[in-house]
Amino acid sequence: MGKMECVVSSVVAVLVVVVVDTVSMTHAASTHSSTDHSQVVAEADALRNSGWWIWANQPGSTNHCNWVGIYCNEGGHVTKISLQDYQGNLPLTLGELSKLNLSSFPSLNFLILSGTGLNGSILDQIHSLTKLIFHLDLSDNQLTGPIPHQIGTLTELTYLNLSWNELTGAIPSSLGRLTKLTHLSLYYNQLNDSIPHQIGTLTELTYLNLSWNELTGAIPSSLGRLTKLTHLSLYYNQLNDSIPHQIGSLTKLIHLDLSANQLTGPIPHQIGSLTKLIHLDLSDNQLTGPIPHQIGSLTKLIHLDLSNNQLNGSIPYQIGTLTELTFIEFYKRKVQPESMATKKNGDLFSIWDYDGRIAFEDIFLATEDFDIRYCIGVGGYGSVYRAQLPNGKVVAPAYLRSFENEVQMLEEILHRNIAKLHGYCLHNRCMFLIYMYMERGSLYCMLSNEVEAVELDWVKRVNIVKHMANALSYMHHDCTPPIIHRDISSNNILLDSKLEGFVSDFGTARLLDPDSSNQTLVAGTYGYIAPEFAYTMVVTEKCDVYSFGVVALETMIGKHPGELITSLLSSLCQDLMLRDVLDSRLSLPEDLQVAINVVFVVLLALKCIHSNLQSRPTMQQISYKLLGNIPFPKSPFYAISLYELKNQDM
Ligand SMILES: *[C@@H]1O[C@H](CO)[C@@H](O)[C@H](O)[C@H]1NC(C)=O
Ligand SMILES: *[C@@H]1O[C@H](CO)[C@@H](O)[C@H](O)[C@H]1NC(C)=O
Ligand SMILES: *[C@@H]1O[C@H](CO)[C@@H](O)[C@H](O)[C@H]1NC(C)=O
Ligand SMILES: *[C@@H]1O[C@H](CO)[C@@H](O)[C@H](O)[C@H]1NC(C)=O
Ligand SMILES: *[C@@H]1O[C@H](CO)[C@@H](O)[C@H](O)[C@H]1NC(C)=O
Ligand SMILES: *[C@@H]1O[C@H](CO)[C@@H](O)[C@H](O)[C@H]1NC(C)=O
Ligand SMILES: *[C@@H]1O[C@H](CO)[C@@H](O)[C@H](O)[C@H]1NC(C)=O
Ligand SMILES: *[C@@H]1O[C@H](CO)[C@@H](O)[C@H](O)[C@H]1NC(C)=O
Repeated sequence: MGKMECVVSSVVAVLVVVVVDTVSMTHAASTHSSTDHSQVVAEADALRNSGWWIWANQPGSTNHCNWVGIYCNEGGHVTKISLQDYQGNLPLTLGELSKLNLSSFPSLNFLILSGTGLNGSILDQIHSLTKLIFHLDLSDNQLTGPIPHQIGTLTELTYLNLSWNELTGAIPSSLGRLTKLTHLSLYYNQLNDSIPHQIGTLTELTYLNLSWNELTGAIPSSLGRLTKLTHLSLYYNQLNDSIPHQIGSLTKLIHLDLSANQLTGPIPHQIGSLTKLIHLDLSDNQLTGPIPHQIGSLTKLIHLDLSNNQLNGSIPYQIGTLTELTFIEFYKRKVQPESMATKKNGDLFSIWDYDGRIAFEDIFLATEDFDIRYCIGVGGYGSVYRAQLPNGKVVAPAYLRSFENEVQMLEEILHRNIAKLHGYCLHNRCMFLIYMYMERGSLYCMLSNEVEAVELDWVKRVNIVKHMANALSYMHHDCTPPIIHRDISSNNILLDSKLEGFVSDFGTARLLDPDSSNQTLVAGTYGYIAPEFAYTMVVTEKCDVYSFGVVALETMIGKHPGELITSLLSSLCQDLMLRDVLDSRLSLPEDLQVAINVVFVVLLALKCIHSNLQSRPTMQQISYKLLGNIPFPKSPFYAISLYELKNQDM
């Protein structure tokens, strides 16, 4: 017994050494044995010989196990190559995958080279991948050529991610041999032909994403065997035929997206078995028949999109019991394929992100079929109505002349100071958008009303200018591609009950697409249009900056600056004093900080209406300046002239 105890404690001692001293163990590894030694040297050489600068220029360290992205076992053999977490200043552009001799790493389990600028074909390398590899991520590169059928030899693979490449050809049926796979991501490639039915043998799969390819044919019914799947995405392919009813076996599914294909036939009622579904998108297909009432069993559903199909019959009342639902769409025109869009003849209705209870009939009832009595304003694109809904909420539907731009844009933009769109309808009887209702109407209206103008004191006016600046800075600098509003005017700045400002009316806004920026129609409101537009007919962000300047000035002087702008642009403003142009319905600011802010807003406004667009600041600069420490004016308030402000630096 005593002897046994002794053996046990020495094992413990050895373990302690290993734990404490892994680093020196890996350093020492090269002295282990001669075969091992030459193998370790070969691994280091293979890394160096790749010519990939990230390893070629490793400072100092002779031990490759310490290099960026290299992980070794205790014997000094590379088990993992991962440049995923590389945090360098330069993007990695490694070039050809074949530069790294992968046969040199017999212990490699993980190969993670996503987003490293790899190119070339996987075919050149597949032979040198060891059977031991179980995690292969070459996603987000520029790999070309096919997925070689030899991939079927990597039978230990559990994770395979080749998405975001330029891979072509068919998905090899040999993938069916990778029976340990739990994740398979091949989306965003140019894979064609049909999905091999062998995919049904990958019964460990939990995640399968083949979206954005050119896959054709039917969805194999064998998919029904992948009962561990939680995520299945096949959207944006050319899959046809009907949805196999076997889909009902995938009872663990949380996310199912088959949208933007050419699927026909009915929605199988078996879909009602997928009770864990949170996201169900079957939109943009050619599905026919009724919406199965079994959808009412999907009690966890948050997102349901069946739009752009040829479904008929009524919407099953069971859908009304889906309490989690925050997004629902039955009819909606999408922008992804043109042919789909033109199929439907304008029978679209969509409401989202409200409380899910507004119905299109409610809007008609509440406005008595858009009776003029409910009209609260006329915008650049149409009329705005006030609708009090049965649940007590108030929304502002706008009956439109042209609105497609507005919808597309507003769907994507989300900003505290941009009027929020709750839904829209395009139907042969109507065309409207549903906005959050703005109790106080437009800035223009408030400034024109003698009583309300006084309520809009200096602090509130400065704040409204800040809100506008934030919204425009977001549109110009945080949206990709940037969005130019094109029609900023005091009419399009709406105020809520707290007099917070919101930018609205995107009727004329278009995405700033470099190719289309020269093809602009006349846009904007007279008096707010940047002067260069008249002769260039090109709208840039700087046009919005100009219009912003006019509105900011208008907010401070209480009316459209009109002629004042002409005098400001010339040198005629030499003896125009700030105190004389500020809105005389308010007394001059008494609080020092308020006065400083007012002066600064006028200064910024003058910079924005500069006739030379290059001299105008960007909306981002303006919004930063307004957020930061506002500089002290150079002269006492009463002695500040507009000329001085115009020539002062921001
Ligand atoms: C791979 O990229 C490198 C540099 O980025 C380039 O020199 C080489 O020609 C490319 N090779 C292929 C096969 O595209
Ligand atoms: C790649 O490495 C293997 C094993 O180390 C070696 O046999 C082979 O010659 C190498 N290939 C090239 C092209 O260097
Ligand atoms: C696959 O690669 C893409 C691109 O690098 C990445 O966004 C994604 O999270 C990866 N994983 C899966 C399971 O798709
Ligand atoms: C798939 O693409 C490959 C190469 O891009 C092409 O040779 C082949 O004909 C295509 N197959 C189908 C069925 O379209
Ligand atoms: C599948 O890939 C597409 C394309 O990038 C992506 O939009 C979608 O969210 C992915 N699906 C899942 C379930 O991750
Ligand atoms: C589906 O498309 C394939 C070719 O991509 C075609 O051969 C087949 O007939 C189509 N099936 C149906 C039901 O339309
Ligand atoms: C729905 O369309 C099918 C044909 O696709 C037709 O047989 C059926 O009568 C229609 N049902 C309703 C309620 O319109
Ligand atoms: C706009 O620019 C494109 C190319 O940049 C040119 O082909 C086109 O003729 C231009 N259109 C107009 C109206 O100037």
